[in-house]
Amino acid sequence: MTILIKNGQIITASDNYTADILIEGETIKAIGKNMAVQVDHLIDATGMLVFPGGIDPHVHLSMPFMGTFSCDDYTTGTRAALFGGTTTVIDFILQKQGNSLRSAFEEWSGRATGNAIGDYSFHMAVTDFNDSTKAEIKEMIEEGITSFKTFMAYKGALMIDDRQMIGLMDEVKQKGGMVTVHATNGDMIDYLVQKHRSEGKLSPLYHYLSQPEVTEAEASERFTDMTNYTGCPGYIVHLTCEGALNAVRNATRRNQKVFVETCIQYLVLDASLYEQDFDGAKWVMSPPLREKKDQVTLWAGINQGLVQVVGTDHCPFKWEQKLMGKDDFSKIPNGHPAIEHRMELLFSEGVNKAKISMNKYVEVTSTNAAKIFGMFPRKGTIAVDADADILIFDPDAKHTISVNTHHMNTDYSAYEGWEVTGKVKTVLLRGNVVIDDDKCLVDKGYGQFVKRNKVKGFI
Ligand code: URP
Ligand code: ZN
Ligand code: ZN
Repeated sequence: MTILIKNGQIITASDNYTADILIEGETIKAIGKNMAVQVDHLIDATGMLVFPGGIDPHVHLSMPFMGTFSCDDYTTGTRAALFGGTTTVIDFILQKQGNSLRSAFEEWSGRATGNAIGDYSFHMAVTDFNDSTKAEIKEMIEEGITSFKTFMAYKGALMIDDRQMIGLMDEVKQKGGMVTVHATNGDMIDYLVQKHRSEGKLSPLYHYLSQPEVTEAEASERFTDMTNYTGCPGYIVHLTCEGALNAVRNATRRNQKVFVETCIQYLVLDASLYEQDFDGAKWVMSPPLREKKDQVTLWAGINQGLVQVVGTDHCPFKWEQKLMGKDDFSKIPNGHPAIEHRMELLFSEGVNKAKISMNKYVEVTSTNAAKIFGMFPRKGTIAVDADADILIFDPDAKHTISVNTHHMNTDYSAYEGWEVTGKVKTVLLRGNVVIDDDKCLVDKGYGQFVKRNKVKGFI
């Protein structure tokens, strides 16, 4: 199968030019001006932007969490991702405490294989670091799982202590991986949750008030200190606020590099959403939404190169699931649906409002994640020999986000009524048109596991 994409404005992390892209099989064969070749399928991209397919390195599909499961599975989740221009996701495997990494890997592979529509990879969340876990780190890296997620929060569930953290960092560093972190202080949060509950303060607002900025700033500082001491490559997931980014900024003063991801919600939504009764449960996530001043910090952090990635932390629950916490905010499953909206929202709010350049947009939605997590240059760019994962984007099309039109498996939208300028028109994944004009053209099983390379700790 050969495809020619004609006349699109190609945007990569570094370039912006108009040319044609010739695709043969799964990869890009050539890029050039006015190419005259016979192909099976011609796509006219005149007036369109042509981006590398999006990479969302932070999603939770069918994840067992807080007594339930996130409600997008590999089929619905990766399909919704494709509708939104994201061609590859990295999901989190959760080790069960007392069990092996291998058994968790097998469980997650079983869920994904034959069901994913878009490409996927895994981070391994280490929730129980002991001698046998230590012995499995090398094996996991050989399987292509080169990033190890840790939780400094969710005390009594997923959280590990600093002793485990430092042991894990030592081992991961030696074997060529990276440690990533949910950096908030689990003990402080646990104290505040119990305090609010005992005072009868049970609405979603108290989820927010139980995780003040200091809980994230403190843990981010501790994590950067530990990665600095061990020399292990480190990545902070879903960073939300000024205090936490300042911890990273401070680390740069001792010549340290820590990678930072924020998520689309922290750039465009704020904590005022918790001031409505139980409806605020739609945005109960950890860390919570923050203040306007934090949004300013995050946009600046992207432009300063301190924040390299914008993900979603897609962890969707239906309203019925959110109602588990109707009388107690601490029982509301944490997370919100966003996998489909990241590329369009960031374009509309970031590029269109002149907060970031188009090259920066590509960096943070695709290229940097590919580089940081060992998938570049196969993924994350438009170049000869790269996978033909391509997003053809209409920069002028306007639409309104709604539960009535989204493809995620939730019965509400966290972005209902948002007016967006810029829309996904056509998406190619490994040389096949998978989305065209709001139709998905491939079935479950099309998505493949992406085996990742060892990480370097620089990009
Ligand atoms: O609220 C969130 N973020 N839910 C998913 C789990 C996590 O902490 O990433
Ligand atoms: Zn988290
Ligand atoms: Zn998450």
